[in-house]
Amino acid sequence: LAAVLLAALAGAALVASPGARAQAPIVIKFSHVVAPDTPKGRAAERFKLLAEQMTRGRVKVEVYPNSQLYRDREELEALQLGAVQMLAPSLAKFSPLGVKEFEAFDLPYIFPSKAALYAVTEGRIGRSLLRKLEPKGITGLAYWDNGFKVMSANKPLLQPSDLRGVRMRIQASKVLDVQMRTLGAQPVALAFSETTPALRDGVVEGTENTPSNMYTQRMHETQRHLTVSNHGYLGYAVIVNKKFWDGLPAGIRRNLERAMREATAYEKTIAQRTNEAALEAIRRAGTTTVHTLTPQQQAEWRRAMQPVYAQMEERIGKDVVQAIRRQVA
Ligand code: LMR
Repeated sequence: LAAVLLAALAGAALVASPGARAQAPIVIKFSHVVAPDTPKGRAAERFKLLAEQMTRGRVKVEVYPNSQLYRDREELEALQLGAVQMLAPSLAKFSPLGVKEFEAFDLPYIFPSKAALYAVTEGRIGRSLLRKLEPKGITGLAYWDNGFKVMSANKPLLQPSDLRGVRMRIQASKVLDVQMRTLGAQPVALAFSETTPALRDGVVEGTENTPSNMYTQRMHETQRHLTVSNHGYLGYAVIVNKKFWDGLPAGIRRNLERAMREATAYEKTIAQRTNEAALEAIRRAGTTTVHTLTPQQQAEWRRAMQPVYAQMEERIGKDVVQAIRRQVA
């Protein structure tokens, strides 16, 4: 009873004093679809810590992982409506906003290395892509890294022809759809949260993702084979509702930008390690045979996916694809 009374008194005090009301923290709801123990999940927590410290508690960041609040498509709508303030969707998931250029990141083998990727995301091309979100009521703050994707199924995928007829879950990206069709597979676009159940129930037979996403969602438990193909990239744009962001007091926004810069630098240091550790954990789990491709097999995969460029260049924008290719060359 005493606790209830105290809470009521505290509530009354808040109502009575306009000063106290002014101190109510600004809340940033940060929704995402992956597990906390992933590069994105850990960076979101780091941002929360830094943002709350740097604004001395004026801002409170609530992180909702694992599609707890929204699934892929819904979270973009929620951001535009202002139901949440911050997201970090994969670059494969921006076309519902009418911004198809980010699908360039899905092109097979587009980045020969992480250094080449960073040259794009941290340079002029990265900035100009984020600016395309502004007319959609969205401000892009940063790129967060995950890693190169592997492929899994219930049979070994060693040659491109091994994919023939296999139902593969993909993110909802046209480029990934065409990539799978080019390999002769049957792509099925599913929300991230639906993937593990779909693999378990046989709705799909295989998938592609980073080891950290596979391991933390326990996809490996239903996938007997995994190929370290590194054929494509998975990364994120951290985005906020523009109206919310522009409406913040300038000092607070500057502190949040600083927190984001530090969280982004941290993210970059953990992404690779987290994926290496996850691949090791999958190996140790004993459920899945991990295959590495010979240089000859790698060359075959690369050759098999090459037609995706000609088919998708128009959709993504020739200038963007060519600018990226020049940058990474
Ligand atoms: C997926 O849907 O596979 C990924 O985009 C999930 C994520 O956010 O890493």
